[in-house]
Amino acid sequence: MSNKDIIFANQITEYTDNETERQQQFMVKAHEYLIALEKELSRKPTACVITFGCQMNARDSEKLTGILKEIGYEITENEDSDFVIYNTCTVRDNADQRVFGRLGLVSSYKKKKPWMKIALCGCMMQEQVSIEKIKKSYRFVDLIFGTFNLFKFAELLCTMYDSDRMIIDIWRESNKIVEDLPVARKYSFKSGLNIMFGCNNFCSYCIVPYVRGREKSRLPKDIIREAEKLAADGVKEIMLLGQNVNSYGIGLAEEDRISFAQLITEVCKVDGIERVRFMSSHPKDLSDELIEVIRDNPKIARHIHLALQSGSNRILQRMNRHYTKEDFLLLVDKIRTQIPDVAITTDIIVGFPGETEEDVDQTIDVVKKAAFENAFTFIYSKRTGTPAAGFEDQVPEEEVKKNFNKLLEVVQETAHAQSGKFEGTNQRVLVEEVNEHDNLLVTGRMSNNTLVHFPGDASLIGKFVNVHLDKCHGFYYTGKLEEE
Ligand code: SAM
Ligand code: SF4
Ligand code: F3S
Repeated sequence: MSNKDIIFANQITEYTDNETERQQQFMVKAHEYLIALEKELSRKPTACVITFGCQMNARDSEKLTGILKEIGYEITENEDSDFVIYNTCTVRDNADQRVFGRLGLVSSYKKKKPWMKIALCGCMMQEQVSIEKIKKSYRFVDLIFGTFNLFKFAELLCTMYDSDRMIIDIWRESNKIVEDLPVARKYSFKSGLNIMFGCNNFCSYCIVPYVRGREKSRLPKDIIREAEKLAADGVKEIMLLGQNVNSYGIGLAEEDRISFAQLITEVCKVDGIERVRFMSSHPKDLSDELIEVIRDNPKIARHIHLALQSGSNRILQRMNRHYTKEDFLLLVDKIRTQIPDVAITTDIIVGFPGETEEDVDQTIDVVKKAAFENAFTFIYSKRTGTPAAGFEDQVPEEEVKKNFNKLLEVVQETAHAQSGKFEGTNQRVLVEEVNEHDNLLVTGRMSNNTLVHFPGDASLIGKFVNVHLDKCHGFYYTGKLEEE
């Protein structure tokens, strides 16, 4: 095993026009391998997909799971399965480190189960340095593929079963979207829906455009068709996914092109869909049209995730974000005036090269003025290949930590001041699960994304119900079910 040879699969196979049918044939072939393995093991082979990244990564995992189910695996959440797939993220270094940690663990399972297969895919695999490291130090991995060729998972599985070598297939880009492959959703009643892939923004710290490629929008008719299929399958809440949904449509032929505001309106019209969310919007592109559409359509969730990243104009410019602190605050003001019950959440990076305490004070000023309902704060992570990695004035760790803690305190204070606004009101809640800690409670989500816990049982899962919010506990409410 340790001397495993390597096959670069991308030198063997090509991309075709009838890719969906071609992949379906590989699923049939892979199913035959599974029948043979089932006989050998005297039980159904198991597979487990572990997701490390964002909502888009999670949606990709559902596509992988769909194919695994189709070919006959029993899906588990246990890494001691017959097949384990790590769907990686590389947005920050700690995401990379988590994957290497897990590989250490899973190699011990594989030693006891020689038939076990391990695959790695996702954003981290698009980086040559990760591939080199795996080739050198993790030779027990059986299959590696990237973000652009996930559609050919079934084909790669067949190559993997046919060989005892490490299969590597990484594409640098793709300009086609393969539709209609199987998907197995984590939740029966809610689903992500990709409206676009990739990113053209090249924020100077961010690896995503390099590992996900240029922005490509799906055709509106394909998106609506998927929304209709999801609704027919019991989905009530859809989250439209893209790195910057506001630039949806760019690159589509003129006769197909519609704005994101028009698209979300069309998705809301799909029978059975009761709530529509989206993620993420870049502040530079959020249109007045979209704000009005959200305001006027109660089906659109009262939640906008609007990444600030920094409140300092100097840093924003170096980040290549194309807006100023003042633009951002004006936008927040416009949103809050038009949609008073909206929750605005954000992402902030601390420790970007050249950032001083004064810059962080500017960020803190925006946090106070924008009064975010929640903010995800990240310590800047240097990503090889991005422009910021080459900036000379990287900030010492000590200083970053001090600034990070200072910001975190304000973020928590403002979020706390915002919470509780809805105490005493009745809200529409989509019930998601039985409460993890108390099985006499269920947990659901309000339109503005806030969690609510209230007495109930599993029969409520997937239903929209009215809940009276008795008490706010910071980031969640407790309440009780109201009569419809
Ligand atoms: N496209 C989304 C947007 O612009 O709103 C962001 C997607 S990114 C996957 C999620 C968040 O990760 C970003 O908003 C940013 O705050 C953070 N992030 C990206 N690159 C980072 C880096 N090099 N170091 C720390 N945080 C980073
Ligand atoms: Fe990264 Fe910026 Fe694209 Fe978001 S918009 S994915 S932060 S490059
Ligand atoms: Fe998402 Fe991480 Fe890739 S945040 S797009 S999975 S680098």
